[in-house]
Amino acid sequence: MSMIELNVNQRAVRVSAEPRTNLADFVRDKLDLTGTHLGCEHGVCGACTVLLDGVPARSCITYAVACEGAEVTTIEGLDEDGVTAELRAAFTREHALQCGYCTPGMLVSARDLVLRLRQADERLIRVGLSGNLCRCTGYVGIIRAVQSVIEARRARDIAPMPGGGRKTLGPVGSGRSTCDGSDRAVRTTPAASEQTPLEPADRVASIPDFIPATILEQQFTVAFPPEQVFAMFGDIAAIAACLPGASLTTPPKPERVEGAIRVRIGPIAATFQGAARVERNPADMSGRIVGIGSDRRSRSSTQGEIRYRLAPVGQGTRVDLSIGYTLTGMLAQVGRPGLVRDLAARLIAEFAGNLDRRLSGAPADAAPAELNGIALVLGSLRARVARWLGRDAE
Ligand code: FES
Ligand code: FES
Repeated sequence: MSMIELNVNQRAVRVSAEPRTNLADFVRDKLDLTGTHLGCEHGVCGACTVLLDGVPARSCITYAVACEGAEVTTIEGLDEDGVTAELRAAFTREHALQCGYCTPGMLVSARDLVLRLRQADERLIRVGLSGNLCRCTGYVGIIRAVQSVIEARRARDIAPMPGGGRKTLGPVGSGRSTCDGSDRAVRTTPAASEQTPLEPADRVASIPDFIPATILEQQFTVAFPPEQVFAMFGDIAAIAACLPGASLTTPPKPERVEGAIRVRIGPIAATFQGAARVERNPADMSGRIVGIGSDRRSRSSTQGEIRYRLAPVGQGTRVDLSIGYTLTGMLAQVGRPGLVRDLAARLIAEFAGNLDRRLSGAPADAAPAELNGIALVLGSLRARVARWLGRDAE
């Protein structure tokens, strides 16, 4: 157990909890604040959204111990909040809820938009609420409600607040970082109107080394000798053709490749455009690909590294892979490590199958138009259920 001290709804709290306790369970079970709902528990649905140091955050994928010293506001803490009161009235007026399960998280995210957006732009509101799923109302009433509150406030000359009143702190929930005088420091999902263009990844001149935030280890075997597999790994176009969702944007060079990969995690689809540096060591049949990429639409960027080493196994080859990455932006908010790990496992299984087919002279399976996290995870769940039942679920 760890003792955690933080402020919840402006009240100092000192409570012990297991290090693995997430913030949603912490406020619900330890503090009886059950207005924070749990849906997917994967950072996808947004039902558990609370304010962490003034910034909307998914409490199901935030450890309570990581919030030491932070200011947490749940939906109960917004009872007396004027913006939330206007939103509640608008939700009722516009029929923006049925069962109400999504509503606390929806209100927390909507309040942030009301504070920040200059005008009631439907597209920006839809983007801003894209991380909050509603399974029964549909979104028209919700969007109309948020639009009406923004319009009414701007008509009353209530100007948008830069940063939505967020504290100028470091990473959301840290509660300890120092002010740098810039509210950009804490913006995880700025409104599109406030965005500065990302540097096009295909113009990335240098691809720096980095220390990945997450490293996944995977291995697979193919029924071909290491020399043949190593030669195939040197053919970047062939490798890209084996990777679901991947495409090349320029003819590859032996030491550099430029391309794109389409992914979908939960409600967010992204196309990462990027470039990668390729290194190979024939002496021990190993290699490394270090890449950098960004997606304008979701304002997400990533640095990634794949290290591989080939070893003979009988007549075939075992491929040891180490995949490291650091993800920032909107996808990082929904891309919980467990979800990404499942996604990577399925991706590698498909890649291995395609590689095997290609080595045997057959074309790889047509790569899906995009790498779909939910579809892959559902596929993995189906496979697990099939194993439990002792039969094939397909
Ligand atoms: S329960 Fe946290 S995002 Fe779904
Ligand atoms: S009102 Fe039922 S899930 Fe949104």
